[in-house]
Amino acid sequence: MSAASAPATEIYSPGLEGVIAGETAVSTVEGGLRYRGYPVTELCQYCNFDEVAFLMLYGELPTPKQLTDFQSRVSAARKLPECLRPLLAALPRNVSPMDVIRTSISVLSHFDPDVNDSSPEANLRKAERLYAQIPLAVADQFHLSKGKTPVAPRSDLGAAAHFMYLVRGKEATPEEVRAFDVSLILYAEHEFNASTFTARVVVSTESDLHSGVVAAVGALKGRLHGGANEKVMDVVNAAGGPKNAEAWTLAALAKKERIMGFGHRVYKSGDVRAGVLKAYSAQMAGIAGTSAAEETAEIIETVMAREKNMYPNLDWPAGRLYHALGLEIPIYTPIFVMSRITGWAAHINEQLAKNRLIRPRGRYTGPDVRSVPAKTWSA
Ligand code: ACO
Repeated sequence: MSAASAPATEIYSPGLEGVIAGETAVSTVEGGLRYRGYPVTELCQYCNFDEVAFLMLYGELPTPKQLTDFQSRVSAARKLPECLRPLLAALPRNVSPMDVIRTSISVLSHFDPDVNDSSPEANLRKAERLYAQIPLAVADQFHLSKGKTPVAPRSDLGAAAHFMYLVRGKEATPEEVRAFDVSLILYAEHEFNASTFTARVVVSTESDLHSGVVAAVGALKGRLHGGANEKVMDVVNAAGGPKNAEAWTLAALAKKERIMGFGHRVYKSGDVRAGVLKAYSAQMAGIAGTSAAEETAEIIETVMAREKNMYPNLDWPAGRLYHALGLEIPIYTPIFVMSRITGWAAHINEQLAKNRLIRPRGRYTGPDVRSVPAKTWSA
């Protein structure tokens, strides 16, 4: 009988809190969030999401020519295999859009010419295609689930403007596009978060990019991760307006409820992304006439800071921004997918460039050794 090798030193941190589980050059949360060295605050100020997507995938901000070429390739890839739309239309109407996007990416893999090629170049081609295809799948399912005809894609719009157009069937204003664009930049990447780590674990077995992305979507869906942005408006609505918000929050905390959109495993004194997006959510709420939601949110923020020393994460303003933009709640986490596909793809290629199977150990807490009662074997 062979014995399992014992870990040299037993290190155990529940939820891997504080554990360095790998190296990355894609982003860091140390000293303010930076993507490939650039502070997100500056990326939000000077760049659009297509530029940041390029940065994620290729490691550098694009030159004007590289950006035009990237956008041309993405525009050309804005199409779905013919079988996908009937499949989406045949799904039960009440299926969660996150489940549908997971299924869609799985189906897309069967039609991707590079599916079995995990070279860095092929992975970038696949990532670009998913960057183009995921928004289409989200928007198509959105319309089909209402019995409506999906909006045909266009080739002349950047990622943020294009998605708004696909959902609404008409172009968004420049202010709306800018606000949505910033949210996509902020959602793009966040080092070893749960979904990115999931993608890295999957490809560390030498599985393929689509499998890593499908698994990452599953991880993102949970309400402790990306799913929180869909719960934010439930919180704001349940709080019952500015007058009731303080009492509601205190009562929820007394019942030990989690207030979705607050807290973070890494940021204990605030999430820089939430501060950036809050200004856009307030601006759009002003235009949309939903400022009462912002006032309510402000009171909840004050109470959470005072009572729990807890601060908003990115999902808190994102949920409100999307609401102010008139987007429906069940597509909020799929929007997160449309953005995070860039970070996942960057991490997948980084993992494969220096791969080692990710296989930690578990601390056994089961019964002591015991014998199976002897009896005659039967089939
Ligand atoms: N509201 C109220 N209490 C909270 C919250 C919250 N949002 N978050 C944590 N707490 C409390 C916990 O109940 C716990 O209290 P206790 O010690 O009395 O039992 C304590 O704070 C520590 O909680 P943990 O879950 O151990 O902290 P962790 O670092 O693991 O949690 C997490 C991080 C999962 C994000 C948590 O703060 C949470 O559940 N937040 C709400 C969900 C959310 O907004 N997720 C989005 C994350 S960001 C993103 O994906 C973009």
